[in-house]
Amino acid sequence: MKQPLKGRRILITAGPTREYLDPVRFLSNPSSGKMGYALAEEAQKQGAKVMLISGPVGAYCHTPPPMRVIPVTSAQQMYRAVMQHAKQTDILIMAAAVSDYRPEKTSPHKVKKRPGPMTIRLVRTPDILAALGKMKRARAQHPPEADQPPAEAAPLLVGFAAETQNLIKNARDKLLKKNCDLVVANQVGKNHQGFASDQNQVFLLDRDKNITRSPLTSKRLIARFILRHIKKLLSKR
Ligand code: CTP
Repeated sequence: MKQPLKGRRILITAGPTREYLDPVRFLSNPSSGKMGYALAEEAQKQGAKVMLISGPVGAYCHTPPPMRVIPVTSAQQMYRAVMQHAKQTDILIMAAAVSDYRPEKTSPHKVKKRPGPMTIRLVRTPDILAALGKMKRARAQHPPEADQPPAEAAPLLVGFAAETQNLIKNARDKLLKKNCDLVVANQVGKNHQGFASDQNQVFLLDRDKNITRSPLTSKRLIARFILRHIKKLLSKR
């Protein structure tokens, strides 16, 4: 098999995060991790050295060796793991469905019910993709001094946008706001695609204002479609 990604180091996030209220309850979302895992498997088949940072997913998600997998639970743990490894990477693909909020306090014991409603105060989690976008911007603005070794090229940053409405507009806003090179946009909330489904249809938005639509197909083929676009962007650098 041809290995067009040989020598490339790819870091991929996948799956949901869980933000615990107490030891038996958490805030999360229906992400299955299938898209991120399909990307990781395909990238490895194409020769890339893959590191997968994964939220809690079902046993059906495969990670064929020698892929390195770092399991995490919360958004904060995912943030720390990504930041620790992002510098040694050529391509960053943030496919995880990260919770934007977490309970301000996590009770060490099961919270017992009381009469009447309950209020839970939520606080923001770190935005991992935005932090990577900022890091990329800082690197571009501060190239190394003449007597310093040349910096490695900034990694290619790929974000996802799962939207229920105004898909293209929201995805374009994310591309610019989070300083991505590519955004993979998909409509969620429709039957048979998006979250937890085996099939998907995506739109790829890049900084040259290209919008490329995939067919509605398996996540494996969507993964190949996304990687093809990434290779095209890398070849233009
Ligand atoms: N993301 C992230 N860290 C977060 C939230 C999101 O890295 N705390 C990343 C996701 O992995 C995805 C992209 O940001 O690549 C977009 O996530 P999405 O949930 O669609 O959008 P948000 O930026 O969270 O914005 P909103 O929820 O307002 O649509």
